[in-house]
Amino acid sequence: MSLRNRKLTLDEFQQERTEVMATWPTGTGVDFEDGVRYQLSLPDSKRFSSVLAQAVRENKTLCQPRAGVALVDEHIKLLQFLEDSCDLLPSTIDAYTRLNHYEKAAEGIERSLAAGTSLLNGFPAVNHGLAECRRVVEALKKPVQVRHGTPDARLLGEITLAAGFTAYEGGGISYNIPYAKKVPLERSIRHWQYCDRLVGLYEEHGVRINREPFGPLSGTLVPPFISHSVAIIEGLLALEQGCKCITLGYGQAGNLVQDIAAIRSLRELGDEFFQAAGYTDYALSTVFHQWMGGFPENESMAYAVIGWGSAMAALSGATKVIVKTPHEASGIPTKEANRQGLDATRQMLNMVREQVFPPSPTLEQEVELIKREVRAVLAKVFELGEGDVAVGAVRAFEAGVLDVPFAPAACNAGKLLPVRDNEGAVRIFEPGRVPLPEDVMTYHRDKIAERARAENRAPAFQMVVDDIYAISKSKLIGRPR
Ligand code: 5AD
Repeated sequence: MSLRNRKLTLDEFQQERTEVMATWPTGTGVDFEDGVRYQLSLPDSKRFSSVLAQAVRENKTLCQPRAGVALVDEHIKLLQFLEDSCDLLPSTIDAYTRLNHYEKAAEGIERSLAAGTSLLNGFPAVNHGLAECRRVVEALKKPVQVRHGTPDARLLGEITLAAGFTAYEGGGISYNIPYAKKVPLERSIRHWQYCDRLVGLYEEHGVRINREPFGPLSGTLVPPFISHSVAIIEGLLALEQGCKCITLGYGQAGNLVQDIAAIRSLRELGDEFFQAAGYTDYALSTVFHQWMGGFPENESMAYAVIGWGSAMAALSGATKVIVKTPHEASGIPTKEANRQGLDATRQMLNMVREQVFPPSPTLEQEVELIKREVRAVLAKVFELGEGDVAVGAVRAFEAGVLDVPFAPAACNAGKLLPVRDNEGAVRIFEPGRVPLPEDVMTYHRDKIAERARAENRAPAFQMVVDDIYAISKSKLIGRPR
């Protein structure tokens, strides 16, 4: 394979840029120099990295919704409606744009205009183009991030960053494996090197752009060490291309100790691996995603899930939390439901803010467990890549060394099976070909056996299925009836 974890030269980047900009008419309207000028004119209050840095200094957890509709004016109204209830704003991109189906997005815009309501599940930024996207940034007081799920997000990045968005979510693994069926991993990683190089180019011009690999992956019983391994690989790939402001993410699993240990280990492992690779000039923060699996339909029950996630976000010391809404079980929320999710979250964050989870041997043990798991997996990734983390990532997925549970991508082995233990922590039932140390696997098996005894049934796939639906049916652990 020609993929290497090496900073793209300016020539390589420029050559590729010409092709990228020609893929849709709005690409021709993008002027990088003008983008830099506009970015430099933004006040700190509208710069993602500045707001994050302040939160890190103050040990504060910020909150951010998801939101996006088809038309620019409606999108602006939506974000203005949410703005006073949150610290950071999103623009969630629609599914057609994520698949680079801009013709379909154009039809969606036309149909939305005719219907007088959004018929897309997000904001089609590429179709709207630079000037219209800038209108969004101009209309708001707070920083705006592009949130999507796009294996090839090169044109989207060019347009939105030139428009003044100051943060960009995604990565070559995290926006492929959980989102696409047939996109080769080598290709999506290569396309994300372009996105990272673009961010790196802004950095070279004095513009700080936040980069956030998508932490939760499939959002379904993902063990912390799996998502941490992917997050750290994507962090390394981003740093190589010149990114300097990285937010690593994790999706709530549901067990108090495991979730707090996950955010702590994520931050510490991030520094460990970034510094071992020779990077020192970067800012690191973390994001905690409220429960990404199935939600209860009952809105009062949904608020409890949101509240527990908010408490964990604050207690874990995450820099920001991505917020769910009481409409989660039914689809895209109304703007009112979206704000209600934010208000519930802020109330909890404010109540928990000053509290610290007391030091405990149980917590320390969980932190150490995750660290050992991540180190074992990443050692194998580097070995497979003969020192190159991009090559290693592709080969590790081929070999099943990296394996994301319940992900649709054909290049993902799907052999690893997670299940909850007797306290609801996500453990490894079947490791597939993921190289966990023998004593670590013994620990997982013991924890699962403890639950099996309590439920008077043998550990089996039914337990996994029960766990997947448990929270939507009002429990954490899928106990037999
Ligand atoms: N507006 C609000 N939330 C959205 N989500 C996806 N698209 C939008 C949108 N346009 C949410 C889903 C789910 C998560 C993955 O993103 O409801 O919670």
